[in-house]
Amino acid sequence: MKVRMIQGAKIISTGSAIPHTKVSNKKISSIVETSDEWIFSRTGIKERRLLTEPGQSVTDLSIRASKEALDKISMDADQIDLIILATSSPNDLFGSASRIQYEIGAVNALAFDLTAACSGFVIGLVTASQFIFNGTYSNILVIGSDVLSKWVNWSDRSTCILFGDAAGAAILQSCDSHLNSMLNFHLSTDGNYSNQLSIPYREKYEPHPVLNLSQGSFQFISMNGKEVYKFAVSQVPLSILKCLRDLDMSVNDVDWLLLHQANDRILTAVAEKLSISHNKIISNLSNYGNTSAASIPLALDEALKSNKILTNDIVVIAGFGAGLTWGTIIIRW
Ligand code: COA
Repeated sequence: MKVRMIQGAKIISTGSAIPHTKVSNKKISSIVETSDEWIFSRTGIKERRLLTEPGQSVTDLSIRASKEALDKISMDADQIDLIILATSSPNDLFGSASRIQYEIGAVNALAFDLTAACSGFVIGLVTASQFIFNGTYSNILVIGSDVLSKWVNWSDRSTCILFGDAAGAAILQSCDSHLNSMLNFHLSTDGNYSNQLSIPYREKYEPHPVLNLSQGSFQFISMNGKEVYKFAVSQVPLSILKCLRDLDMSVNDVDWLLLHQANDRILTAVAEKLSISHNKIISNLSNYGNTSAASIPLALDEALKSNKILTNDIVVIAGFGAGLTWGTIIIRW
């Protein structure tokens, strides 16, 4: 399928929020059998932020990130038409987006959650662009936010070393020019591997005596690290190449490679497969670990704050994760 944006949709502002508590690899080594050397050499992670303040949730981080994005461009929240919250760790299974809508004062916005794990922000941005493309909405707030520390088994060394908590937000706006906007996207899912990375729901209580209905609860994150690694390194370059080819572009046109911050080795392997120079990789993994749906908007916000990304730069954004789901967006900044 050939997909091209017909009307312009561009990111006009970003914001992010991280919890105050830093947790080093050394600290993790005090709770499971591992070491700073093992974690850093296998993942590139040095430390992560964890949301430890009592009563704080994904909603609070999302509100902070959203307010920063709005404040940066002095935009009133009532100008937002839609809020999409990409998260897999809501504090309400019915959705957390509506609380954010209320707290930031986006009184004119529809708000809903989107669950797509580490691909959530990419899929959220593409979803938002469709509303802009068909003329329904003009200003859309897309938030990627996760507090996976609540769902990590802190005695499982194969997963607890990886994840951190954060939120990132981007405001997508319709624009007349197609030049400095989202140029193309590609999204995929292979549900056959859904059990390779999941937070499964399990029934565990005795069935209700009258209704014969079982109930249960969600478990901790379960992951087949090797399979997820192989999937990311094989599928993400193909997705990026497809997206570039559809635009008659090549890897030589790419200025910045902004991948989901899962593992430094994945970032490097994808760049090498594409023959994209290492200094074009945007990475903040060492400071935050894998923050799931937040990782791309957080890294994007930091890259913009440090003036890395400049006008007209071609930015390739790719997310991947549980589902298994993956996708690419190409933006001319
Ligand atoms: N510290 C020390 N040893 C550890 C360890 C840890 N934290 N975790 C696992 N090990 C051990 C294993 O028990 C195994 O020991 P054994 O050889 O005696 O059996 C050995 O290290 C190798 O384990 P393995 O799972 O093969 O390691 P790996 O090289 O595949 O690295 C990951 C593990 C998780 C870092 C890697 O698979 C990975 O990054 N996968 C992608 C995960 C990911 O990005 N998920 C999110 C996607 S959105």
